[in-house]
Amino acid sequence: MDDQSTFRHAGGMPLALTASRVASLVGQHLEGPGRGEGPAYARLADALRQAIVDGRLPQGTRLPSERDLTGPVGLSRTTVTRAYAELRDQGYVVTRRGSGSLVRVPDVPGGRVDHLLAPSSLDGADVADLTCTAQGAPPGLTEAFERAMADLPAYLPGTGYYPGGLPALRERIAARFTRRGLPTDPEQVLVTAGALAAVATACGPLVRRRAPVLVESPTYPNAVAALQGAGARVVPHPIDHLTHDWDVPGLAAALRASGARTAYLIPDFHNPTGALMSDEQRVQVARVLRAHDVVAVVDESLVDLPLDGQEVPAAPLGRHLPTAVTVGSASKTFWGGLRIGWLRVPRSRVEEFASSRLRLDLGAPVVEQLVLCHLLDRYDEIVAERRASLRAGRDVLLEGLSVQLPDWRVRVPTGGMALWCALPRPGSTRLAVAARRHGVVLAPGPTFAPAGGMDGWVRLPYSLPAAQLAGVAGRLAAAWDDVVRGRVRLEDLGRGVSGDRIIA
Ligand SMILES: Cc1ncc(COP(=O)(O)O)c(C=O)c1O
Repeated sequence: MDDQSTFRHAGGMPLALTASRVASLVGQHLEGPGRGEGPAYARLADALRQAIVDGRLPQGTRLPSERDLTGPVGLSRTTVTRAYAELRDQGYVVTRRGSGSLVRVPDVPGGRVDHLLAPSSLDGADVADLTCTAQGAPPGLTEAFERAMADLPAYLPGTGYYPGGLPALRERIAARFTRRGLPTDPEQVLVTAGALAAVATACGPLVRRRAPVLVESPTYPNAVAALQGAGARVVPHPIDHLTHDWDVPGLAAALRASGARTAYLIPDFHNPTGALMSDEQRVQVARVLRAHDVVAVVDESLVDLPLDGQEVPAAPLGRHLPTAVTVGSASKTFWGGLRIGWLRVPRSRVEEFASSRLRLDLGAPVVEQLVLCHLLDRYDEIVAERRASLRAGRDVLLEGLSVQLPDWRVRVPTGGMALWCALPRPGSTRLAVAARRHGVVLAPGPTFAPAGGMDGWVRLPYSLPAAQLAGVAGRLAAAWDDVVRGRVRLEDLGRGVSGDRIIA
């Protein structure tokens, strides 16, 4: 039975795992080498704890009742009851009347273990959803659709399958790379259903099961999930959040120690920190990657969003790395609803990546690709509007924080869509719980931590309209006060954190 069929999701209720699924998750730990010692309840508790800590039993999951679990694990009810009691005592399980026993990843690092972001479920006019770095559609989008509809008849006699992408769009994307200093033929561009699908496509040729893959820490969690889904063992490489520097000697050491031959990097307005890799760092990072024979997946999703009037950053990192694959997206520049991204691959590997793509899907939608052609034709005008509205959002949020939460530290990002704030003390997970009560939905720091921790950080996207962001700092201050005064109950953690997932 697969995971889908063993998860049930009833409106607003926590995820629930069937008893047989839990038994299969803990089975190898119960029976594995060296596991035969100690009382049965302690072994079961240990196996469940392992599953919680390594993310196989995610935060907020409802465990089967003690009675239901007895049969599948082959242990008595008293034994299961004692195991659950031990987990409860240790803070790995909370029991709520009417909801049963819920998994909790205790305290710091508090919270997220699944590295998946999906849309928040909290709606309402007065809710500021800060789980997403994404703007609403730009002006002119419907007009681009109208133009695309006018183009469409020419495509109707064909099958509509363009596994590499519409030629007209591939040409435009290739021309943009070439203009930015990375000469590219249209054949080197594969159009995908968004940048995340491009990362997943790249995993095919680049990621072997259990192979180490270096990622920045913090990083964009869904990419971590895609890498792990392909079997990668992620190796975190910290980037310094307050100086926004990539640590080049540290990178060399991490590559040497881990033996990673693949790296996933976001050099342009990195998500979540907003860091921009300087020209000099690009040269140094590329030198280290080449010396260790590493193929980089360079995610440029946010490259079009410098906010301080500076030129679009330095040369693409891929220019220094002939073996790199570069991921791009229309989501941040134009609109996430288009679901269009791309992959630029070395000429010698086009076939390999094209085959990998065919294992995932057969192409992106024709109309949206035509729409993107029209949007790219109006790039300057549209992007100027995107940047102006992000700049306004960033400045409003920064101003609010400086007044309401002066002890939160943040380095002003020069582009991208989010602030990465250092809290005066750990408590990001609790903050996310408290913030909901004040009408703000957040992804806490641990969401972005590929190897746990980061409860002392929080990402604050500024992609909502500035008017909506104006009151956010005040609400966050009230929420932080709840945290500092100990008004966030441990029991609320599951509800506040794992019920919500964000996408961008
Ligand atoms: C660095 C990065 N890569 C990829 C994505 C996903 O982009 P897309 O909507 O094109 O799949 C995001 C979204 O936030 C992102 O920040």
